[in-house]
Amino acid sequence: MKPPLSAALFLLCLASAAMADSGPSSSPLKARQVCSACHGKDGNSASDQFPRIAGQRAAYVASALRAYRAGLRNDPTMRAQAEHLSDQEIVDLAAYYGAQTGLATRRSAWCGG
Ligand code: HEC
Repeated sequence: MKPPLSAALFLLCLASAAMADSGPSSSPLKARQVCSACHGKDGNSASDQFPRIAGQRAAYVASALRAYRAGLRNDPTMRAQAEHLSDQEIVDLAAYYGAQTGLATRRSAWCGG
C-alpha cells in the first residue's frame, strides 16, 4: 500500500523538520528547514509528489518563488510557502538550492537522507 506509507513518512518528515526548527527566526536557514519537509534536506526530494530543486538554476528557483508569491503561478501549497518570503530570502534560498548537487533518482532516502 504505497500511499498510506508515503503519507506516514511525509508526516514523520514534517515532524522532524518542526522539531529541528529551533534556530534564529526569519533566517534563510530556518526557511530551508520548512522547505526540506517536502523538498528534502538539500532540495533532492525523495517523494514523487514534490519536485527536486537541488541543482536547479538559482535564477529559475528565484523566479518560481516570486511567481508563487505573486499568485502568477497558481499552486496553493507553494503560494502559502512563498507569500511570507522577503526578496532577500528568495535570493538566499535560490542561491542555496542552486549550489546543491541534483541527484537523478533517490527513491529510498526519505527526509533527504
Ligand atoms: C508542504 C510541502 C512543500 C513545502 C513546505 C515547500 N514546497 Fe516547494 N513545492 C511543493 C510542491 C507540491 C510543488 C509543485 C507545485 C507546482 O506544481 O507548481 C513545489 C514547487 C516548488 C518549486 C518549483 C519547482 C519547479 O521545478 O518549478 C520551487 C522552486 C519550490 N517549490 C521551492 C520551495 C522552497 C524554497 C520552499 C521553502 C520556502 C518550499 N518550496 C516549501 C511543495 C512544498
